[in-house]
Amino acid sequence: MKTDDSAKTLPLAKACIDLNALEHNFQQVAIQAPQSQIISVIKANAYGHGLLAIAKALADKSDYLAVARLHEAVLLREQGIEAHILLLGGVTCFAELLICQDKHITPVLHCSEQFQCLSLFWQQTKATLPYWLKLDTGMHRLGFQETDFSALMESLSQQNSPDYPQGIMSHFACADEPEKLKNQKQMDTFRQLNTYLSKTGQAEKINKSMANSAAILAIPKSHFDSVRPGIMLYGISPFEGTITQDNKVRTGLDEHLLPVMTLSSQLIAIKRLKQGDCIGYGGTWCCPDDMSVGVVAIGYGDGYPRHAPTGTPVLIHNIEVPLVGRVSMDMISVDLSPLLEQGISPAIGDEVVLWGQGLPIEKISQKSGTIAYELLCQISSRVCFNYKIK
Ligand SMILES: Cc1ncc(COP(=O)(O)O)c(C=O)c1O
Repeated sequence: MKTDDSAKTLPLAKACIDLNALEHNFQQVAIQAPQSQIISVIKANAYGHGLLAIAKALADKSDYLAVARLHEAVLLREQGIEAHILLLGGVTCFAELLICQDKHITPVLHCSEQFQCLSLFWQQTKATLPYWLKLDTGMHRLGFQETDFSALMESLSQQNSPDYPQGIMSHFACADEPEKLKNQKQMDTFRQLNTYLSKTGQAEKINKSMANSAAILAIPKSHFDSVRPGIMLYGISPFEGTITQDNKVRTGLDEHLLPVMTLSSQLIAIKRLKQGDCIGYGGTWCCPDDMSVGVVAIGYGDGYPRHAPTGTPVLIHNIEVPLVGRVSMDMISVDLSPLLEQGISPAIGDEVVLWGQGLPIEKISQKSGTIAYELLCQISSRVCFNYKIK
């Protein structure tokens, strides 16, 4: 136990956000898609990394910042972000279009109801409003389908408005499985829908965008005018469910990406337990031998996944040690044997890395039966964020 008397009240769990790694990953996007504009996807609190800090870091480099919800976009404007902002989920009513106009936010319209709102906006304000259209090419979630197109085109020509869509986008359902025929079909449909727009003579001016991270890395034909990286900006492989040739979990490092978030905490207890002693709630894991077990100040109350099973690695002194027993709200237990076998004596206060530098998050998500996206978005407000720049 440390004996200095400087009282520390900082939370034990920390997320260190490496903005140099973010910059590196952004450059990787530019290398992969050199002809395309970059729409940096920073929705959901920048995939849990902190909306404002990430927006500030990416604003000057990106052609657009993209968020899902209007309140995220408004927050960015209120905090002084001047970059173009694309609102991926569009609006739910006329009043929200007025907010978009006021805050210079570009909505992506995905259904005829939203388009009716825009028509009303044109009638009532006589103002212009840049917008994009979302096309459903096969994901069948959001977007205008081919069957909606003639009505849409008619509305566009009737409005006689300067507000022709600035861009069209669509989203892949299976870009992380690039060999699937569905990807090609979606691109064919995207081109087909674009030809409808070309009948108006405006298609050349329209920004076309399909590629998310997986498509940026694996489907170059999908890059079109703009790419929309999300997870790869944060240093994580969009192919995390797959295994590499040497039978390892595929991570961001395999795509030349660097992890942006390192989640860490500290050892808060070290126990010497006897063979047969069972650990934690339910006593689901019992010591096979007399052994040392460490208790780490991280739990599902911080966003660490409760379903992480025994064997999920954590990093202490750069050595992987396995979690044992159930994850609690505030702590987990780990088997310290791998450290002791290497002659390292762990101490209370030692740093424990849960994921990030030295321990790819993809290993944790794979063990926990989820995806890194979800782990990142789950980090709770109890975790202290530090932003690191060289
Ligand atoms: C419309 C849209 N574009 C781009 C992205 C970025 O995807 P990824 O994080 O897989 O790169 C997302 C994320 O889900 C999205 O919804």
